[in-house]
Formats: sequence, C-alpha cells, structure tokens
Amino acid sequence: MNGTISSIGDRRDYKNIEVRPLTLHIGAEIHGVDFKQPVDAETLREVRDAFVKWKVVFFRGQHLDHAQHVAMARLFGEPTIGHAVFGHEAEYPEIYSIAKERTANSNRATKMMTPWAGWHTDITAAVNPPMASILRGVTIPPYGGDTFWTNLGAAYAGLSDKMQRFVEGLRGVHRFEASAGKPQNTRDESVRRRSMVSEHPLVTVHPESGERMLFVSPSFLKSIVGLTPRESQQVLELLWEHVVRPEYTVRFKWEPGDIAFWDNRSTCHLAPTDIFQSDFDRQLYRITLVGEPLVGVDGSRSSSIEGDPILSVETELARKSA
Ligand code: SIN
Repeated sequence: MNGTISSIGDRRDYKNIEVRPLTLHIGAEIHGVDFKQPVDAETLREVRDAFVKWKVVFFRGQHLDHAQHVAMARLFGEPTIGHAVFGHEAEYPEIYSIAKERTANSNRATKMMTPWAGWHTDITAAVNPPMASILRGVTIPPYGGDTFWTNLGAAYAGLSDKMQRFVEGLRGVHRFEASAGKPQNTRDESVRRRSMVSEHPLVTVHPESGERMLFVSPSFLKSIVGLTPRESQQVLELLWEHVVRPEYTVRFKWEPGDIAFWDNRSTCHLAPTDIFQSDFDRQLYRITLVGEPLVGVDGSRSSSIEGDPILSVETELARKSA
C-alpha cells in the first residue's frame, strides 16, 4: 500500500490569504479575498496555489451577481459556454443554472443504486473536460443539499503498487449516455444533439502539480479499452467504489453567497439527491473553465471518439451562429 499522501497539513506561508483545511486530504476554506473588489496578482497566485493543493476551495459569503461571477471566473481561465450539452442562462452564456429541477437531473430515478451513482467529474465525455468549475450558491435549503468532492490523487495513492502499475497502462472510454431507443425526455434530446465520447488515460498527470490522479469519473467512464466487457465491468466497479471512499472526500454545507471552486483534473463530485425528499428550494449557478486534453503517465493524451472539444464561450457562440 502506498500510504503516504502528499497533501497532509497546509504548511505553506500565505501572506495575503488564510487557508483553513476542512479534511486531511481535500477541501479548504479561503478567507481574506473579496471577489467584488479587484484582486491583486500575488493574492491570485496564492489562491491558485491553494486550489491546486486542496483541489476544492470555498469562499464564504461572497454574494456575487452573475456579472461578478463571470469576472471572478475570468481571473482563473477562459469560461466555456454554461453547459455544452444542457445550455446556459439567456443573458449570461457563461453561466449554467443548477436549479433543483434541471434537465440534467431528469433521469435521476437511477440514482442511489450504488454508492458511486451520480459521482462525476464535469463533462469527461469531452476530449478536453473543463479544467475547473466555479459554483455559486444563491438559494440554499436550511439543511440538506450538501455537495461532496473526492480527491483522485489520494485515491491513486491509496491503491497498492501492483494495482497502480496495472491501471497506469489503461485507458477509459467516457460518454454521455441517453436512454436506449427513442429519446425519453429533454435530457436525452440534449445528449443526442451534442454527442460526445472520449478516451482518457486511467491515470493522469496533473499539469500543474505533477501529481498522479486516478481519473475515474463514475457517471461518464463506461468501459476500459482492451478488456473484455466482463473484465472491464469488474475492474470499473472496483475503481468506482475506491474513488468515493469517505476518507478521500469532503462534504460542504452551503450558505447563501458561498462559492466552491474545484479542480476538475483532480476531483469528482456528487450533487445532493436528498433535496428531492424535501420542499426546500435550491438554486446555484456554475461556470466552467476551458480545459486541455489529459496526459497519462507515459505521455499519451486523451483522444476524441465522437464530438467536438469544448471551447471558449465566444468560440462556441460563433460556431452556433455560423
Ligand atoms: C454540479 O454537479 O456541478 C452541481 C453540484 C451541486 O448541485 O451541488
């Protein structure tokens, strides 16, 4: 067992921000930044450093509006279109509405069947999944509705040496799946309209930290290249279960105005399902940042099987209007 995990304790010397880790492996609150004001380069560098290290960072009580959310996102990268498959806010093409009853949820009847159901890294069916996501809470239930993230670096480090060597040589096929046969609902129609299938290394090397990640996104990763269907399913079930082990995760209790900023190259997350058992409303908004194809331990890169990469919002809009 490779038991030493690099992310123990935050001993870094931050001058402008305060970083308060929430668990041993993943998740930290950052204090001392107000995204409604200009943020200087040194503070941004420190936030970026904490984001890469802690994989998901939280900013409490920011209360940004849509325009301020977009401006904040642009400090860290190029926004994509709100959601490449499920659309965007009418006036703000960079923003995707995470409403309680949203299109992406319309096949949620299958949730809760297995411990890993619903866990995902954003849009890994694309050859270049978004590099980060920035989620802003607006209407938050008084209780319930927490979001979970898991650390894919800790998950890789938690495998035996032999298993690490085995998975390092494998590639996974990630796809958005509509129901078989005729489209059953709006979700299926959207998935068919922008069909995406891609192959990613099962172990990736993080481009900023160099850390190895077990790049397993349970909702999108459907098979392993070169294995028989039975072998593939059995190995995947082992890996899906492994990446969502509670010790690799953090659970975030939202307050209105909070922001979660996660590294999509090193995490999976789980949207809550308990909200559907209450009358409480829940409304959040998300912006994702353009990502690059992933790189495996041997230098091999992600490849597209079907569909286009997800580009900047400007390029996507120009493409749509052409
Ligand atoms: C998401 O999957 O980006 C949404 C997470 C949430 O609703 O908490």
